[in-house]
Amino acid sequence: MKQQVWILFFLGVPLCSSVKVHIKVVNGDVTLSPVGISTVKSVVWKFGINKVAEFDPNFSEEVHIFGNYEGRTTLNKETGKITILKLTPSDSGTFSVEVDSVLMPDSYRLEVLEAVNNVTIIKADSSNSSCELLCTAKPSSGEASFNYVWIKNGQFLSNGSYLTVNKSHLSHSYTCNASNPVSSKSTTVEDICKEAVNNVDIRKADSSNSLCELLCEAMPSPGEGSLNYVWIKNGQFLSNGSHLDVSNSDLSHSYTCNASNPVSWKITTEKAEDNCKGRPIGAIVGTTVTGITLIGFGVAMYLWKKRACKPDDDTAENGCRAGCNRVTDAPNGKSGE
Ligand SMILES: *[C@@H]1O[C@H](CO)[C@@H](O)[C@H](O)[C@H]1NC(C)=O
Ligand SMILES: *[C@@H]1O[C@H](CO)[C@@H](O)[C@H](O)[C@H]1NC(C)=O
Ligand SMILES: *[C@@H]1O[C@H](CO)[C@@H](O)[C@H](O)[C@H]1NC(C)=O
Ligand SMILES: *[C@@H]1O[C@H](CO)[C@@H](O)[C@H](O)[C@H]1NC(C)=O
Ligand SMILES: *[C@@H]1O[C@H](CO)[C@@H](O)[C@H](O)[C@H]1NC(C)=O
Ligand SMILES: *[C@@H]1O[C@H](CO)[C@@H](O)[C@H](O)[C@H]1NC(C)=O
Ligand SMILES: *[C@@H]1O[C@H](CO)[C@@H](O)[C@H](O)[C@H]1NC(C)=O
Ligand SMILES: *[C@@H]1O[C@H](CO)[C@@H](O)[C@H](O)[C@H]1NC(C)=O
Repeated sequence: MKQQVWILFFLGVPLCSSVKVHIKVVNGDVTLSPVGISTVKSVVWKFGINKVAEFDPNFSEEVHIFGNYEGRTTLNKETGKITILKLTPSDSGTFSVEVDSVLMPDSYRLEVLEAVNNVTIIKADSSNSSCELLCTAKPSSGEASFNYVWIKNGQFLSNGSYLTVNKSHLSHSYTCNASNPVSSKSTTVEDICKEAVNNVDIRKADSSNSLCELLCEAMPSPGEGSLNYVWIKNGQFLSNGSHLDVSNSDLSHSYTCNASNPVSWKITTEKAEDNCKGRPIGAIVGTTVTGITLIGFGVAMYLWKKRACKPDDDTAENGCRAGCNRVTDAPNGKSGE
């Protein structure tokens, strides 16, 4: 025994005890080897106070495996290395080894962790201006916690299970990478912060200088990222964009606005004239000018008719007037000709 201690000393093995930590995944395997030992005559591995595996040629030429280590454990007779397969969380704990009847100073701590699984992103909270995402992973039990990293377009965003994003700068997708020392898994969500389209409304554009320029507006507000607007008339695509110019001759038609974002769409249909009743000044002036022109034309016609009578009958003033009246009335009754 004294000899062995001296051998260990010369091999440079510290005699003070140290703890070797092995972190392994469930169903994985671990190999523990006596530190600083190349060959053994006899070896005993223990988990706590219970024997795991033993080889003692004075007792048996066979390796002996104990308890639930049977069938998944091998012990190398020459090196004293032990390999345990199909690890479970209950394999976590401290192992020790005796080589040639001497308890080695090192101990071995095994930690068996479950692989990260079921990485899920949910929208935890949302306001007009920001959106909060929560990343979770299974198993949530056990002492092992996960490290969460948020990634956008391959770029690191932040650490931690929560991510708050500004709706003015929404990305199409967000990725959460959950990891523990033995595994990592990531998941990606798309457009999770986008709200469903709502309150689609058609009205006349404020700053319009055409007769009837329609504007389609919908919730959520533009801060949520752009909405797509498509104008439809009689089931036919007209144009996209929120504005639509309706020509005078089309005022009585109905127009449909389809507002959409990547998560939803909504339509509303209205007659153009219902929105264009409050006509701009240009239209009023136009109407007035047209009216005056028509009145003027009527007067001119009357005067022309009156003049046109004169050459026919210069003397019979009364008869001519009657004749002219008859011509004027002609459309109503056919008494004229
Ligand atoms: C095995 O037995 C021999 C003699 O019988 C003894 O010298 C040796 O120390 C024993 N080995 C162990 C590991 O007990
Ligand atoms: C984890 O995901 C797997 C498939 O991916 C599913 O079968 C299992 O039910 C999920 N477990 C939990 C706890 O959600
Ligand atoms: C959020 O938006 C709605 C609709 O535009 C508005 O009524 C409400 O006041 C806004 N809330 C905040 C806190 O800005
Ligand atoms: C994330 O947090 C972990 C510990 O919680 C830390 O070790 C790591 O360096 C952090 N990563 C980044 C990129 O900040
Ligand atoms: C979101 O971004 C906008 C535009 O850059 C900025 O004005 C606003 O203050 C930001 N909101 C928050 C909560 O950071
Ligand atoms: C997730 O994080 C782990 C640990 O930091 C890293 O090894 C792995 O490459 C990451 N996976 C992805 C898809 O980013
Ligand atoms: C209009 O719609 C077409 C297809 O529907 C699309 O490719 C195009 O980008 C849109 N333009 C605008 C300005 O939204
Ligand atoms: C509205 O637009 C969305 C997105 O382009 C489309 O999926 C949907 O079919 C459209 N609805 C109608 C009624 O046109």
